[in-house]
Amino acid sequence: MCGIVGYVGYREASDVLVGALRRLEYRGYDSAGVAVLNGRGIEVRRCVGKLVNLEKLLITEPLRGAIGIGHTRWATHGRPSEENAHPHRAGNVVLIHNGIIENYLELKAELTAKGRTLSSETDTEVIAHLVDEEMKGGVSLVHATRNAVRRLLGSFSIVVMSDTEPGRLVAAKTATPIVLGLGERENLIASDIPAILEYTRDMLFLEDGEMAEVTRDAIVLTDFEGNVRQRAPKRVTWDPVTAQKGGYKHFLQKEIHEQPQALIDTLRGRIRLETGDAPLAELDPIDDRLGKIDRITLSACGTAWHATLVGKFFLNQLARLPAEVDYASEFRYRAPVLGERDLVIVVSQSGETADTLGAVEEAKRAGALTLAICNVLDSSIARRCDAVIYTHAGPEISVASTKAFTTQLAALFLFAVRLGRRLDRLDASQASVLLAHLRNIPQLTEQALSLESRVAQIARRHANAQDFLYLGRGVNYPVALEGALKLKELSYIHAEGYPAGEMKHGPIALITDQLPVVVMAPKDDVYSKTISNLKEVESRGGRIIAITDEPSDELERIATDLLVVPKTHSLLSPFTLTIPLQFLAYQVAVERGSDVDQPRNLAKSVTVE
Ligand code: M6R
Repeated sequence: MCGIVGYVGYREASDVLVGALRRLEYRGYDSAGVAVLNGRGIEVRRCVGKLVNLEKLLITEPLRGAIGIGHTRWATHGRPSEENAHPHRAGNVVLIHNGIIENYLELKAELTAKGRTLSSETDTEVIAHLVDEEMKGGVSLVHATRNAVRRLLGSFSIVVMSDTEPGRLVAAKTATPIVLGLGERENLIASDIPAILEYTRDMLFLEDGEMAEVTRDAIVLTDFEGNVRQRAPKRVTWDPVTAQKGGYKHFLQKEIHEQPQALIDTLRGRIRLETGDAPLAELDPIDDRLGKIDRITLSACGTAWHATLVGKFFLNQLARLPAEVDYASEFRYRAPVLGERDLVIVVSQSGETADTLGAVEEAKRAGALTLAICNVLDSSIARRCDAVIYTHAGPEISVASTKAFTTQLAALFLFAVRLGRRLDRLDASQASVLLAHLRNIPQLTEQALSLESRVAQIARRHANAQDFLYLGRGVNYPVALEGALKLKELSYIHAEGYPAGEMKHGPIALITDQLPVVVMAPKDDVYSKTISNLKEVESRGGRIIAITDEPSDELERIATDLLVVPKTHSLLSPFTLTIPLQFLAYQVAVERGSDVDQPRNLAKSVTVE
């Protein structure tokens, strides 16, 4: 997620801005920039890479002035480069942005038709031009910004300044956060509290659909219609480290809670209920080849591999194509039999995992079509594949994957619908029903988050166990595997995931009253089979933690602990069932005092074999 800061006051703005951006580094970024207004107008400095590059540039080309804006960019539209870095200038206007503008291509076409030249690949530059266009004829910066943001579709927070209105910053937001810091003879703007805690603890939080006009001595809040909004600032008492984690104890906990928003961002603009389509324009260049494929191989590592196992169900059921799944580390060395009618889908949060990149190379050598599902824009895997569907989870800081997983599921589901429609194996009305369920998933995951305190109680009771067994069937067998992996990674407890029906062929020997057995038991086609498996556990004294979407007397009687998640279409149940598993792993790790965000021996991105 991009970091946003703004300053107006009496200090050297570039020092304040770079310091504030440094405190947002934990969000992840690939380029940075600042703009400061002085007697010569607004001057901009931008750099690819870490903030230290920007600091070096500011030594050789310093910026003087007491008002400015700064930005760290996490690329979404356009690769990381100096031209794509923020702030963006258009005429007299300079602007920074966090979020995604859905209708930027239409707006870009309109601006180009008016003779404007856009020099970056970003959606952001369009907003700067729109504001500049609106300022024609002497319209004030705040009015022009209001007119411009009313034309934008998507989620955004922006901060704008203009050569023609020195001393004034204008901020506006729909979804991504903006906090305003009130100081003595100075005011500040940021995307996140820690950026500005050093200067003030008195903060105003901009709400969706609000704007702020910020000068050295005042902050005026209005809505997008221009009505004045008034409210008192809040005093923030967090210490700087807590503030970075958004008030959560760990990044992992924060990222679990970010899933509804990450899913909204991943699904945005990709669901068309009226026609039953999942428009993924990024696939248009490979559309002809997609129409000819007759087999799919999915490949990935770790959590992403679990996502591919779920994806196989989506593809089998919605596109009616044979699909197989392979660990990337195995696939790349097994001389897979592939041809030009094969599609190889690789899934990777980082886009830099060496084994997954190796799998792409192997697939390309064999002439297969390659598609990446990636979170990091312009990463090695994204660049190497024939096409890429980006998840928009934002940076994942905690080593253990959470929001990357659920957004990967969302991207795989969208792709399965898109392919099913392309191959005429899924009709529009069926697709529309499925997509309507998918559209509700962010809301249902939000509801599932309310299980956190209940899961914490359960975790306390089982935190001393030496082993855990996770069981699931069908599309939720991979969810059981993911639950077990999370527990292993975070708490260092041995855990195994198994298909519930397979338990009696071996793992049943492990069951004693010391073994917690975590079971996915949604009310689906195989529910009665799952109940039979649970009875096998119960009769051997196993401790059952069951997760269902429809409680029954039977389940309540058998389970030691029962967790109920919101109900959705059975194919989409992995989204909701995953949430309590993430909490369970997290809370057990907290109970045992593990290093939750950086578990021992693990790296966030495994770039070596
Ligand atoms: O960046 P990638 O998605 O390619 O990473 C794949 C695995 O290394 C990753 O999912 C790993 O298993 C995580 N530690 C899971 O929490």
